[in-house]
Amino acid sequence: MPLMTDNAPASATDGRKSKGRFSHNILFLRKFFRHGVKIASVWPSSRFMALATLNKISWSTARTIVELGAGTGPITAQIIERLSPNTQLLVIEYDADFVKILQDRFHGQSNVHIIQGDVGTLGDILAAHGIGPHEVDYFVSGLATPTLPEPVRHGMFDAVREYLNPQGFFSNITEFPWYYLRHYRQWFGDVSFELVPLNMPPGGVYHCRSIR
Ligand SMILES: C[S@@+](CC[C@H](N)C(=O)[O-])C[C@H]1O[C@@H](n2cnc3c(N)ncnc32)[C@H](O)[C@@H]1O
Repeated sequence: MPLMTDNAPASATDGRKSKGRFSHNILFLRKFFRHGVKIASVWPSSRFMALATLNKISWSTARTIVELGAGTGPITAQIIERLSPNTQLLVIEYDADFVKILQDRFHGQSNVHIIQGDVGTLGDILAAHGIGPHEVDYFVSGLATPTLPEPVRHGMFDAVREYLNPQGFFSNITEFPWYYLRHYRQWFGDVSFELVPLNMPPGGVYHCRSIR
């Protein structure tokens, strides 16, 4: 089976999109070499990784989905393809170049909000967008959460505790299969791991709920 990525062309338009997507991937790689741990990955997530992060989402009942650390938008694209008009999506990313790419790719949908911000102040960002306690149905994270600076990680999880619907999930990509199970179990009562071999590098998703 061929490895399907965001940039598999099927038509002239897709071909142009594919070139754009390839330049986004090169920008991502350059940023990794410049900023290392802050970008945390050499290449954007594959389609398989993106879909695995969304496995817990009930598209018909979700009212608010928040994506953290969206990069150039491989997961965002899959969310938007499935998003109901009644569901709002907040996409948070702190790198200005990536935010510009996200705005160019995903402009024009009134229920999608691309926000330049730091997840360390996640609570302030959600409050500023009129989200109330326990109103976020799903957090989908592309962050290297275990290696975020401690104050940033604590700020983020304090907000997840306040804003996540008790039935909801916090799903986080990883390039370290199973390795961080113990880390996520410090924060959540219920954690499972889903392997995604078709990614560069192979990785997976920690699906978490019942925040402590
Ligand atoms: C591993 S990349 C994942 C990008 C994308 N979600 C994907 O799957 O390809 C992590 C992203 O998180 C962003 N990021 C890192 N720290 C952040 C922070 N404190 N607040 C918001 N975004 C952050 C980085 O700029 C980068 O785009």
